[in-house]
Amino acid sequence: MAAPPKEPITVSRYTAAARLNHWITAISLVLLAISGLSLFHPSLFFLSGLFGGGASARAIHPWIGVVLFFGFCGLFIRFFRANLWDRTDNVWLSKLRDVLGGHEENLPEVGKYNAGQKLVFWLMSILIVVLISSGLVIWDQYFYGYTTIDQKRLAVLIHAIAAVTAICVWIVHVYAAIWVRGTIRAMTRGSVTGGWAWRHHRKWLRELVSGGPKD
Ligand code: HEM
Repeated sequence: MAAPPKEPITVSRYTAAARLNHWITAISLVLLAISGLSLFHPSLFFLSGLFGGGASARAIHPWIGVVLFFGFCGLFIRFFRANLWDRTDNVWLSKLRDVLGGHEENLPEVGKYNAGQKLVFWLMSILIVVLISSGLVIWDQYFYGYTTIDQKRLAVLIHAIAAVTAICVWIVHVYAAIWVRGTIRAMTRGSVTGGWAWRHHRKWLRELVSGGPKD
């Protein structure tokens, strides 16, 4: 009898360019959250020390936002097709109890992303557009004269609500990536094990074997 292979079979999930794009976006969101929180409440002001003080945190924050926006645009262009909603996503969502209980045998076969990942993707897309647009309204250094004080007040409120929601969505994203064992390596090494793909994204694996998209 032939000996079993020592290394598990792996399947490519992300190109190096897609991973670089992802991590630039991820790092900018973390820096954006820290610098934003430091400006948000006096009790968090100490966080501005990481950026050289309050004035520089205030100056750098919007620029990191610009990096996040363009970084996410890159991710959007790469991944929006794979995140389009289909009928089996409704079935997946209606079986959330099986999802949380790990009974994947009761779920429909999943493509590259499951309905939970797709919701995170679309929520993040909307939130980032809201954040950049409300952020531009309150970026007084360059755009002070373009809007009224009342518009700026409303933008501050919208910006804060969108930022807190984006941080919550980000926590869900990271939690899910850690919770489903074997997922993190998709974004670090670019590949997953065949077992992971078969268990969690069987439809995607089938498509891949029959020559589907590789990004
Ligand atoms: C900093 C912590 C983060 C970690 C540890 C992390 C981890 C991961 C992992 C492991 C994947 C692969 C999931 C899979 O292929 O099934 C992934 C995908 C992805 N991540 Fe992150 N991520 C982080 C932050 C972010 C941020 C801040 C954003 C956007 C603002 C983001 C956007 C995405 C997108 C768009 C995908 C592709 C999945 C999809 O389109 O549904 N990630 N992430």
